Amino acid sequence: MTPEKLIELAKEAMTRSYSPYSGYKVGAALLCSDGSVYQGCNMENAAYSPSVCAERVAIFKAVYDGHRDFAAIAICGGKDGCITGTFPPCGVCRQVMREFCGTDFRIYMVGAGDSYQVMTLGELLPCSFSAGECMNA
Ligand code: THU
Repeated sequence: MTPEKLIELAKEAMTRSYSPYSGYKVGAALLCSDGSVYQGCNMENAAYSPSVCAERVAIFKAVYDGHRDFAAIAICGGKDGCITGTFPPCGVCRQVMREFCGTDFRIYMVGAGDSYQVMTLGELLPCSFSAGECMNA
């Protein structure tokens, strides 16, 4: 799976976004270690707080299906689905990624045109609290 293909799947997922309140459409494509891919989009709610991000939809779909080993995720987003720059994952999504992913998990943040930026989870969530710390606490 090339980064370009994963990014294409994130862009496809973005079209499924339910975001009548913010107008920001977000898509994610999560690559499992066995090569399968799970897509997610953001889903908003009139009460606001029940809204959920694209990344967590993809992760929870995959975990429900029995996957816990992940290699990478591609994320894209923008107002009305127009990608003008990268859409970095929020702090809650970074923490949910850390539940199942190592610090070497790759995060492809899609930019305008064919551009993207890649960072590891360790870079985006340094000094993280994870299952290891919790179980040894
Ligand atoms: N959003 C995501 O889907 N992922 C993120 O990591 C950041 C924010 C969504 C939530 C909301 O529906 C919209 O983007 C604007 O914040």
